[in-house]
Amino acid sequence: MERTQLMQIDDAVNAWLETLDEIIPKLINDMVTTTKQNRFDLVTNVDKTIQQHFERFLNQHFPSHQLFAEEKLNNDINAKQGHVWIMDPIDGTTNLVKQQEDYCIILGYFVNGEPVLSYIYDYPHGQLYKAIKGYGAYVNGKTLHEPEMLELKDAIVSYNPLVINDATISDLNAATFGYRCIGSCGLDSMRVVKGQFGAHVNTNPKPWDIAAQFLFASELGLKMTSLNNEPLDFSTAGPFIISNKGCHADMLAILNAGDGYKKY
Ligand code: IPD
Ligand code: CA
Ligand code: CA
Repeated sequence: MERTQLMQIDDAVNAWLETLDEIIPKLINDMVTTTKQNRFDLVTNVDKTIQQHFERFLNQHFPSHQLFAEEKLNNDINAKQGHVWIMDPIDGTTNLVKQQEDYCIILGYFVNGEPVLSYIYDYPHGQLYKAIKGYGAYVNGKTLHEPEMLELKDAIVSYNPLVINDATISDLNAATFGYRCIGSCGLDSMRVVKGQFGAHVNTNPKPWDIAAQFLFASELGLKMTSLNNEPLDFSTAGPFIISNKGCHADMLAILNAGDGYKKY
């Protein structure tokens, strides 16, 4: 895709993201929370309205582009063909509901299966992370550089301990400097992007949880693979790690040792 065309799309998306600064406070003020599969699986009017708002934006500015997003059915979409936006309108909904902090909007733009633009908007902290294929990654317009090599013994790592067995957690505790988890796949991943975390693991992400991370990883020399060290299919997702180069092999060795990481 031509740089000018990419920049035009980026300008339009930036303008759309700016409109959220006005919309989100009102939505939070009138927040209505409902559950989906169980009492811990939350969705709010904030998630739904932001997604509808983006769908209207696409219809108006880029009518040939398709939206593949969490709060809709995506049966009719082949994510690997044409212009496709993968969206998590709120990643970290539990944090939004319980803390009104540590959530983000995730957007990944794919052209014939290739990631070309990615956004993670940390709205509560006013930080917009962006990656442009071939032109690097930025936070609020400031260039992000490849993080320094981190050895696992010096790294903080992040994962959901509820889905990993005790033996693996204890091996991780022994091998790493420490554990932290924000509770938003997008924001946990950005900590790796900035070199603050050595790795983030999610054992069951959906396409919208990891759509933007592909481009940040490729632009900044990070490893992003399945937990079997295979390439990830962005349209189906599945167990994943985004990692500093210095931690990836050791993390996978620990997660796959013995009977593996799964909690039965
Ligand atoms: C969730 C968050 C969470 C991760 C879950 C995701 P949601 O997304 O990213 O950190 O552990 O796997 O489903 O439901 O808040 O969009
Ligand atoms: Ca999510
Ligand atoms: Ca979500």
